[in-house]
Amino acid sequence: MREHDFEYDRDSDLPARAKRRRRGRFDDEPAPERRGRLTEEARVRLAAARADALDAEELPEAADRWSTWGDGDQGPLPRPDWVITELGAVDHELGTVKTGKEADVQLVRRSLPGTDRVSLLAAKRYRSNDHRMFHRDAGYLEGRRMRKSREMRAVATRSSFGRNLIAEQWAVAEFAALSRLWTVGAPVPYPVQRNGTELLLEFLGEQDGSAAPRLSQLRPEGAQLRRLWFELVDALHVLASLGLTHGDLSAYNLLVHRDRLVLIDLPQVVDLVANPRGMDYLVRDVRNITTWFTSRGLPTGLADAEELVSELRAEAGMA
Ligand SMILES: Nc1ncnc2c1ncn2[C@@H]1O[C@H](COP(=O)(O)OP(=O)(O)OP(=O)(O)O)[C@@H](O)[C@H]1O
Ligand SMILES: [Mg+2]
Repeated sequence: MREHDFEYDRDSDLPARAKRRRRGRFDDEPAPERRGRLTEEARVRLAAARADALDAEELPEAADRWSTWGDGDQGPLPRPDWVITELGAVDHELGTVKTGKEADVQLVRRSLPGTDRVSLLAAKRYRSNDHRMFHRDAGYLEGRRMRKSREMRAVATRSSFGRNLIAEQWAVAEFAALSRLWTVGAPVPYPVQRNGTELLLEFLGEQDGSAAPRLSQLRPEGAQLRRLWFELVDALHVLASLGLTHGDLSAYNLLVHRDRLVLIDLPQVVDLVANPRGMDYLVRDVRNITTWFTSRGLPTGLADAEELVSELRAEAGMA
């Protein structure tokens, strides 16, 4: 059981309605057999009872679901203060940000009824029936060990169970990469949580719900172009210092949020040492993005792909 569950039981900051909900249900629960840490069995029972209680409780008007915060993997600490952790919070689906090839990104508003606490989240939902994803699987997922041979067979035969497992693995991989990168200060959206195939991320955009543009949609010039280039180089150095490269770097996977460059779409992040083709991915990432910058007018003397590759190799300790 996680720490925040205890906080929840202490009725800390919950609105009255949520407290009533909790109380009503817990009164019906058998008294816990012991205090402190719960056994696995008790934890499962408690989770099921909570899910039932949440289903039974009528959602506030216009909400689409109760906050899923308590049920998934949670983002790294220290948590930004805008993250809403109260289980009495609700989620509203505000619409589609973008339908991608392997995932859809929706805008979700999480709010705490009875308070003015609101946060906008990007819900990235991996689909399980996508072909490009299967194509990508070959290079990236190979060698990642799965716990059970049953799971391995399901993935190999691409049964619907297996496809869902693959989609979930992508979500797990992206959540882990974002958590690691955010922790060392790389410019990535804060990963709020992951549940199954859904990631909830910090929404990069404005309060009115308009999303930050992709770099590919912009036509930066002169000093702005140079500044974005140097931000990119810095970000790539942070990745390289962890022995990583993005793996699918392009002007489509970089957002410009309030004039700052942010890396997104990281499920396939590549470990330069562990992946036998690590260097190929690094070279491809650097060439792709350097080409974009030079085609926009950045002097080739500044954006030299070969030089950047060797700098990043050195940063990764592979020179
Ligand atoms: N945290 C975010 N905040 C705002 N917009 C986002 C966020 N994450 C993703 N998006 C938007 O959703 C789009 C798709 O996200 P992402 O690239 O992660 O998924 P994808 O499935 O790889 O999509 P694609 O196939 O289009 O590359 C992005 O190009 C961006 O416009
Ligand atoms: Mg993308």
